Parts: sequence; structure tokens; C-alpha cells
Amino acid sequence: MEKDLEKLLIRFREEIGKVTEKEGFRKLRIRYLGRKRGLLTKILEDIPKLSESRRAGIGTKVKKIRSEIEETLSAKETENGFDNERAEIDVTAPGKKAEKGSLHPLTLVTEEVKEIFHRLGFTWEDGPEVESDVYNFQKLNMPPDHPARDVQQTYYIDDKTLLRTHTSNMQVRYLEKNKPPVRVLFPGRAYRRDMPDATHLPSFYQLEGLLVDETTSMTDLLGSLDFFARRFFGEKTKIRVYGHHFPYTEPSIEVEVLHPTKDWIEILGAGMVHPNVLKNARLDPSKYRGWAFGMGPDRLAMLKFNINNIRVLYNNDLRFLNQF
Ligand code: DAH
Repeated sequence: MEKDLEKLLIRFREEIGKVTEKEGFRKLRIRYLGRKRGLLTKILEDIPKLSESRRAGIGTKVKKIRSEIEETLSAKETENGFDNERAEIDVTAPGKKAEKGSLHPLTLVTEEVKEIFHRLGFTWEDGPEVESDVYNFQKLNMPPDHPARDVQQTYYIDDKTLLRTHTSNMQVRYLEKNKPPVRVLFPGRAYRRDMPDATHLPSFYQLEGLLVDETTSMTDLLGSLDFFARRFFGEKTKIRVYGHHFPYTEPSIEVEVLHPTKDWIEILGAGMVHPNVLKNARLDPSKYRGWAFGMGPDRLAMLKFNINNIRVLYNNDLRFLNQF
């Protein structure tokens, strides 16, 4: 086999000496290096038949010969005024169009909510998705035996740790570190053991708002939510409010908007921060008061863009995403 290789190289050196045409170089390259029938390729086919000890030596030899052939071909082509084909640039070829990306509808919605509340003085902050039972439930006025902690719905990691079921986990966390006046949004993911259907997924987005100071009242909450709804859905949008119950607010409300095609639709829960929650954040409820709300960007995106299945927001199908 070594002999075959040596012969091959001698023959190549002879043949290349006679070539001057561009086409000649091309044929020579195919004759020796062609992937299917090239002479060198053919020799390679016999390598598996060799003993292991001989294989390695032959391997290095073949590599050496291959690069000699390649280099000689390129050098001779340049010498004869033919540039290596691969380096040629066709200046008449049409350009490649760069694809432009766009923001995901959930990002668009979250950014818009942030922008609207920013005009009312709110900033925003991230929080942990893996949370302690304490901040997700206990500090929000839901002790271990509280009926509102529907155990079925929570993904527990161990007795004390869970995937947050709502972004309300950030309320006391934030108040412990930031003294009032406080105006802040907490956008992020939450998790619940829901069966997936057209409007539910086990992981979804929430956006929490929290305001605490010494003088605010329920009218500020209602005015702010009305301002938000009109900016977000259009100036003529109407909202309506009715009493509800959340353990961490008193009184508690739910808010609906009148959707042009869908009738009244619930968009968020809210209320005045419960005195126990303020106490749990080491704030004096006779001095401070606050309000909070929680909405779902998935739901908002579906209403705003007329989407009727939540799953399209997570499938990453370009036919859907390209519309934004
Ligand atoms: N945490 C509630 C939920 O997941 C939403 C909510 C209701 C948040 C009332 C609040 C609130 O801050 O005051 O459905």
C-alpha cells in the first residue's frame, strides 16, 4: 500500500507538469481527490483491511500526500492565472435578505403595561419562581390550614419550597427591603397544577402591582385601573368592578372590561392591602395603607390580539409569530 501511495504521488507530479488549462486542473483535482472515484480515495478504501498497527502509519502518510496534492494544485492554478474557484466572487449575484425579528406578543403586552404604569410613577422588579411557602402563602395572610391554599394547585418541591402560584409572593419580599412610599410592578412566571386547555397552562405569566404610602385609598386604585384599561384597550373602554375575596386584601375586588366582541371579561384581581400583610412586612397598619392588583399578560394578549387558544403563545410557530 505504501508503494501504491508513492506511485500515485510520482504520477501526479508528472501529470501536473503538463497541465496549463483551467479545465485541466479541474479534471486533475477530481481524478486524484474526487470523493467517489478519486485515486487517493480508492486507496483509502483498503485501509480497514490492514492490521491496526499499520493503519496509523498509513493514515499520516495519506494526509501528507493529500495536502501536497491540494497545495500543488492551488499553487499551479495561481501561477497560471486561475484563482482558486472557491475564492471567486460573483458580483452580479443577488444579495441575501437579512430576516428581521420581532418581539413576542407576551413581551409586547408586558412592556406596554409597564410603560402605562410607569407614567403613574411605577418601576418594576424581578422575583424568584422557586419560592418558600412563607412568602407565597403565610406572609400573605394564608396560614398552613387556610382553605385558599388549594394544595392540589401548587407544585411543591418540598414541605417548605414551591413554585410560586402567583407573583403576589413579591409583596412582602419587596416591602421588607423598601420603605414606603412604594410603587412597583412584579412581572414574571407563575405555576399551577392546571390541566392544559384553551385558557390554562401549568406555567403562565402574571403581573403584580403594589402601591404603599400614607394617604392612598380605594379611589386611587380604581382611577389607576381605569387609566390603565383605557390606555391599553382604547380610550372608550369601560371597566366594572365587583366585590370578591382574597386573603391578602380587604376589601377585595375583581375588575372586568367590556370587550368589543366578547362581552364583559374579567382581567384582574385587586384590593386594599390587608393590615396583616403590612404587619408581616414590619409596617404599622395605622400609619401605612396600600393597594395591589394582579393581572395575566397571557389573558391580556389574547384579548388584545383576538387569540382564542393560549397555547399558540408558547408553540413558537413562525406563522403566528411573524404577525407581530
Ligand atoms: N394573586 C391573585 C391571583 O393569582 C391575583 C391578585 C388578586 C393579586 C388581588 C393581588 C391582589 O395583588 O390584590 O389570582
